[in-house]
Parts: sequence; structure tokens; C-alpha cells
Amino acid sequence: MRIRKAVIPAAGFGTRFLPFTKAVPKELVPLIDKPTLQYVVEEAAESGITDILIVTSVGKDAIQNHFNPNFELETRLRETGKLELLSELEKINKLADIHYIHQQELNGLGGAILQAKSFVGDEPFAVLLGDTVTTSDAAPVISQLVSVFDEKDSPVVALERVPMEKVSRYGVIDGDDNGNGLHRVRKFVEKPSIEEAPSNLVIASRYVFTPDLFEFLENTKKGKGNEIQLTDAMSAMLNARAMYGFEFNGARHDIGNKLEFVKSTILFALRRDGLKQQITEFIKTLPL
Ligand code: UTP
Repeated sequence: MRIRKAVIPAAGFGTRFLPFTKAVPKELVPLIDKPTLQYVVEEAAESGITDILIVTSVGKDAIQNHFNPNFELETRLRETGKLELLSELEKINKLADIHYIHQQELNGLGGAILQAKSFVGDEPFAVLLGDTVTTSDAAPVISQLVSVFDEKDSPVVALERVPMEKVSRYGVIDGDDNGNGLHRVRKFVEKPSIEEAPSNLVIASRYVFTPDLFEFLENTKKGKGNEIQLTDAMSAMLNARAMYGFEFNGARHDIGNKLEFVKSTILFALRRDGLKQQITEFIKTLPL
């Protein structure tokens, strides 16, 4: 089945990136010259998604401004002959049909996704975290998950292997290895200690869900951190239907984390024609 809709949670406080995030949403932190959230919307659009709901919160109007046309600026670029820039801006306006909703209470990722109930209706849908960019030499990461969804007709989450000492930062799965990176999930465990962790396979910011997720989310009480944990709703869902995890081809870059932001900036500069050579030269001059 074609997945037309995506939900992008982008309402959080971004406390790991303060003081920057006091006035600017962390989803607008740039990698070179494009905000994180634009990469996320592009990933969805390149995967055939046409309708996107961005979940925002008070003080995050700049997100909407980024995806809306700015006629005055566009006229100026046209008049001054900056046509390449103009066409780049026009492309942003046409990426997808983008809708917005406010999450009134910042009660976690589960709470953010709950805002999308009426937008989603009775269709399967994708979820892409607004502060995390993915790269892949194969198909866009969310489209890789959509392919698994098409094959299994079941919800699927992106998986990444991390060193064991990092598992306690993530949602971890216990699963049966079906080969080719596919795992049937037996259990989800949110932020376990190394001793409790059933594996080093962690949930990596991309999901495809069936709309019955909302029934489970609505019945999920606040859990760890006094937040509605998506992982808790997924655990309840697992009692009712098969769910899968997929070790996608590519990498994810959590821009809400300062160290990963710096690493990703270097990586993206090295992938950008016109910057690659100068950055390589610059790195060679560093007192390492
Ligand atoms: P994070 O847990 O990384 O976001 O959620 P956060 O709470 O903003 O970050 P820190 O830990 O305080 O630095 C991942 C994504 O989910 C969104 C965030 O905006 C981010 O894009 N989110 C999180 C919401 O939309 N609502 C929430 O209540 C929490």
C-alpha cells in the first residue's frame, strides 16, 4: 500500500542544545546551509510522501516560515537575477503539502504523535523525528522501511547497532533475526541499563505504523520522565500484532546532540562539492 502521510514531531524543548534552542527550534539547526527539518521533509518527499504533519509548539513559528513562500524575498531574488537561489527556495515550497499542529503539553514523543490522530485517519503512516537526519547510498531510509511494510503488512521501526555502552540512551529491541537486516520484534525496552539490554539494536528515529497505534497511545499512561512514551505504546501493540525492525542501509545523525551535530557538519561539508577540498585542507592544518 502506498504511504502518503508522514508525521514529523518537532515540538520538544531541545534542552540538550540550550542556550541555542531558547529562541530557535533545534529542528532548524543547519547542516551547512539547510535546516535539519528540511533534510527530513526531503527524505519523506523523495519517498513518495505527499502529506506531512509537523507537530510544533509555542515559539516555533520559524518552522512554518521556513516552508512557506516569502514573496518579498523571492521578488528581490528575481529582480537581482539570483535565479539559482530563487529556484532553490521555490523547491522548498513545493516539497509536500505541509500541515502544522501545536502540541499544547510537551508530554513526550508519544504525546506528539497523538496530535496526528485525525490527520492520519485510517491509513498507515510514517514517522520521522524532526531533529534527526539520515544519509544512505541506497534508497532514502524511510522508503526502505516502507518496502518492509509493503512486504510484511506490519509496523516497522528503523534499527541501528550501537556499542553496548550506549544502549541506555535508546529504545532497544529483543527480536528474532529473519536475515537481511530484518528482525521480528519480541520486546521493546526503553533506555535499559547495559545489564538489562536484550541486544545492541536500537530504534533509530524512523517508523512506519498502522493507524491502530492511536488506540494504544490513547491508553498509554505517562511513563519514564513523566512523558507518554512511544515505546510503551509499541509494547502494548506488540501483544496485538506482529512488528518488525529493519537494520537500514545508511546512517542517522541526531542533530539535537552537540557532538553529533559537529560531526555531521564536518561529514556534510565533506560531501558538498565546493567545500570538500577546503575542509580537507583545513583539517590537515589542525593540531591533532
Ligand atoms: P527528543 O527527546 O530528542 O526531543 O525528541 P527534546 O525533548 O526536544 O530534546 P532534549 O532531550 O530536551 O534535548 C525527538 C523529537 O521528538 C520531538 C522533538 O522536537 C524531536 O524532534 N518531541 C519531543 C516532540 O515533538 N514533543 C515532545 O514532547 C518531545
